[in-house]
This record gives sequence, structure tokens and C-alpha cells, in this order.
Amino acid sequence: MIDIHCHILHGVDDGAKDLEESVAMARIAYGDGIRDIIATPHFNESFLTTADIVHRKLDELQTELERQRIDVRLHPGNEVRLENKAFLGEHARNRTFSYLGRRAAHLLLEQRWKEYDADTPEIAERLLDAGIRPVLAHPERHYFFRDTPELLLRLIELGVWTQVSADSLIGSFGPDAQQFGKWLIEAGFVHAIATDAHNVNRKPNLSAGMSVFEELAGAKARADLEDRMSSIVRE
Ligand SMILES: [Fe+2]
Repeated sequence: MIDIHCHILHGVDDGAKDLEESVAMARIAYGDGIRDIIATPHFNESFLTTADIVHRKLDELQTELERQRIDVRLHPGNEVRLENKAFLGEHARNRTFSYLGRRAAHLLLEQRWKEYDADTPEIAERLLDAGIRPVLAHPERHYFFRDTPELLLRLIELGVWTQVSADSLIGSFGPDAQQFGKWLIEAGFVHAIATDAHNVNRKPNLSAGMSVFEELAGAKARADLEDRMSSIVRE
């Protein structure tokens, strides 16, 4: 399996604090059945983890995983917060953040927590026109999508993918996120499941999320989901 959202890189954001914890997370991921991880440190006004940092840390960690014979392949990425249209536009022009994988045809995009950004449909269309598919990070955790699902459905209609978090599906973020995440799966509106792991406690637990997905959507839908997620890093 592939995890497309994971704060595994050491000492860059509120994820793994050092190389040792990154390695421990990779071991847990391997034990969970994960063989590919897209490293997605925060890229927002609090943690501006730029692409050059991502690549440097990723090389350091990959070398260490090889030394310790942990068979997990790392891919570059970022979890880019839509702080506002100008923030995203400026950093896109300057190529400050990483798209997902070396193919760089997807962008993991996070909404702010306090309110929905009404520019999102326009931004999504602009990205799609440029050949970049936005992947919306954990919409089930945002109250405005739960209160007004039409906001999310409009984005999906445009071609935006959704990434629901395994922790939401097992109830770690409360009943509202869990119920909405399950409803999105049943309605066929989920394009990816990921861990959004931050450390060895909030750990890589993709198999638990995938089991919930399969229970609700069936084995064929799970196979399609896994193939879609793998396509993000296919060269
Ligand atoms: Fe995240």
C-alpha cells in the first residue's frame, strides 16, 4: 500500500522530531503493509517546509532506511494550506513547495480550519487547467464541509480528489468526522485514504482505514482506490 499523506520527515514541522522517530514510523508503516510513503510536511504560515528542505531530509531518511534495511520508498510532497489565494499563487509561481511524487501532477491541499476559502473552486479549476489535480486533505475533519456538503460536492464535480484520514474512520477525531467520512465512502466521494501520521503515537495505520473503506465500498472499490493512489507516484 501507499500512504500519500504522512509527516514522517524529521525536525521540520510537528511530525517526527528526529531521525530516530522517522525510522520508527517507517518500521510501523512497513509492519502495517505500507511500502511507499509520500512525505508531506506542512507548508503553511506556521511551518514553511520548502521543497529544497523536503528533498534534503527525504534523501537523509531514505539513506538511513536503506542502511537499516527497511523496505519503504519515500516520495517528495507537501501538505499545502490554502492560507489565501495570494499565498498559494505566489508560492506556486516561485516553486517553493513540492507537489506529490516526482511526477508532480497532484497537490495535497488543505483548507484553513476556521472557515472555508470561497476561492477554492476557482483555484481548483486553475490547477486542473495546468494539469495538476488537487487532492483535498481530510475534508471530513472540517466543520464547514460537514455542515454544508455541497461545498465539497462542487469541488469533486470539478475534478478535485478527496483524501479521508484513517484516524477519522476509526473514530480518533470524534463521531462527526467518523460519520461524515463513512458517508463520503458510501456515496462514492472518496479518492484516497491516508494516515496523516505525525509520530509513533499518531502512527501510520493505513490498514485500519482501508478495512473500513472495504467494508463500506467493497473489494473492487478498494482495488481501484489503491490503484488510483499508486498512480500518483507512477513515473
Ligand atoms: Fe497532515
